[in-house]
Amino acid sequence: MNFAVLASGNGSNLQAIINACRKGKVRAKLAAVISDRSQAFALERARKAKVPCVLPLDPKGFQDREDFDRRLVEILAENKVDFVVLAGFMRILSPYFIQSFRDRILNIHPALLPAFKGGHAIADALAYGVKVTGVTVHFVDEEVDHGPIILQEAVAIRPKDTAETLAFRIHKVEHRLYPAAIDLFARGKLRLAGRVVRIG
Ligand code: GRF
Repeated sequence: MNFAVLASGNGSNLQAIINACRKGKVRAKLAAVISDRSQAFALERARKAKVPCVLPLDPKGFQDREDFDRRLVEILAENKVDFVVLAGFMRILSPYFIQSFRDRILNIHPALLPAFKGGHAIADALAYGVKVTGVTVHFVDEEVDHGPIILQEAVAIRPKDTAETLAFRIHKVEHRLYPAAIDLFARGKLRLAGRVVRIG
């Protein structure tokens, strides 16, 4: 199976995925890395890893969201991509894109969904005062941070945590959990029963 990673930023999850592919822990081929931000460090990481297709795709060159997503789907088809992994991709995908890769898009979120959806999950969990937060890997559907949950892992919040110290521990979990989920998907070990994901 071939997959693509879409990323907008640092790409530490992309790096963890690249490393896991090298070690044979992700049994699928990373065929493309695409970013909506030309300066994203994720693109550097992908070039260094010699990913076959590494591409900045500037949304400014497109009329609207669907126009951008149509080009994205074309590029993914050209690279024979079977499934898509979002790793810090900061754009909402159109229904057209979701339909094109129905049940074949994975996302990672730095909280235990359905708690703390949105772009500030780590800060929001701290501010709310929960004692436990965590990481969720889920399928992507038309609603943001909503699709069927594949894997979750809890991270305890310590009394002296700041957003930085908590983010550090959450990222460590992400870098282990995401490759594991991708490998399960690539090996056909995930089955959907409504919104419940059965593993094995
Ligand atoms: C991660 O915390 C992920 O959960 C969220 O965006 C962040 C991306 O970080 N969706 P990185 O670019 O992989 O370092």
